[in-house]
Amino acid sequence: MHCRYLVRSALIIAALFAVAGAVSAQNVVKLGLVAEFSGPFAQYGQQILGGMNAYMKLHGDSVAGKKIEIVQKDTTGPSPDVAKRLAQELVTRDNVDILVGFGLTPNALAVAPVASEAKKLMVIMNAATSIITTKSPYIVRVSMTLPQVTQPMAVWAAKNGIKKVYTVVADYGPGLDSEKAFTEAFKAGGGEIVGSVHTPLQNPDFGPFIQRVKDARPEAVFLFLPAGEQGIAFMKGYEERGLKQAGIKLIATGDITDDGVLETMGDSTVGLITSFHYSAAHDSPENKAFVKAYADANGGKLRPNFMAAAGYDGMAAIYEALKKTSGSTDGDKLIAAMKGMKLMSPRGPIMIDPDTRDVVQTVYIRKVEKTSGGLYNVEFDKFPDQKDPGK
Ligand code: PHB
Repeated sequence: MHCRYLVRSALIIAALFAVAGAVSAQNVVKLGLVAEFSGPFAQYGQQILGGMNAYMKLHGDSVAGKKIEIVQKDTTGPSPDVAKRLAQELVTRDNVDILVGFGLTPNALAVAPVASEAKKLMVIMNAATSIITTKSPYIVRVSMTLPQVTQPMAVWAAKNGIKKVYTVVADYGPGLDSEKAFTEAFKAGGGEIVGSVHTPLQNPDFGPFIQRVKDARPEAVFLFLPAGEQGIAFMKGYEERGLKQAGIKLIATGDITDDGVLETMGDSTVGLITSFHYSAAHDSPENKAFVKAYADANGGKLRPNFMAAAGYDGMAAIYEALKKTSGSTDGDKLIAAMKGMKLMSPRGPIMIDPDTRDVVQTVYIRKVEKTSGGLYNVEFDKFPDQKDPGK
């Protein structure tokens, strides 16, 4: 009798716990973060997560009656197979509601079919090859595309007296997109491309490529490399082989002078002109609040780069979409809520293009300057309302 009573009580308690568990699971929105957290691209994951944390620091960790939880996974670098397996595990084992992150294009492309299959919203916070958003109807991109940030650089260069350019781009999706966009817009502006090279994505040795550029004697080099360590190595080679002294200018997308590495690159970057959608020096109240929240959320000293800004804006888009769906995480409802969404980002006004699910934004022309606070990309010209011209 006593024993049966105990068993029954235990069963009732277990049932109550199960109900409580189900209720709390319903009150949680799980974000599965797939990004690069180790290896040469480890900064990507750290910047993206840092931006997401900055958003939560400013706006709290719940929205529409739901608590937001992040489950973090490391692709270890450009590893499509790993990224795909991690995304599958997040969906089937961790029951995440939304997939987020994706620094590198190959990882984003590998996960697109997982989002389609599971009908889960997938928010791209960096990967910038134009075609990515066409690979699943559940993808929204809040970062940029390479054609979008490259075209203004070509237009600006052609208008500012540069006539002969040699292009150097990383040999994969974003680099090839960037080369095509630069070449088309620069030729349309009356410029001439005198040579082009593609550098490997993994462990590039830039020396021979830089020498080839020098020997061709262009007026300028146009450069796209994935942000981070590669830009530091390229700038070193550009200095060492005397391109600056030979009068060969360097123009690039802002990936090279990314706010995460600019101080490390040092004074040789002063005067460098780039085109991009985000600078930590952007002068607006939204950006000042973001830069401060980023430092507060990430141990004080760090500076957010464009990936952090996209992590922040991705969270803003998710919070706003969840408000519209009253907390529903249904992939179709979330996508519908995001189409046409307008946000005031730390980079300026942005909109999710309802047709392409890519971001429409201002692209700025900037120059590296030494300010009292250190080296910064200071914006001095702008191209508002830029869509992805790559589609
Ligand atoms: C990409 O892989 O899509 C990518 C990576 C780094 C960048 C830009 C694009 O700076």
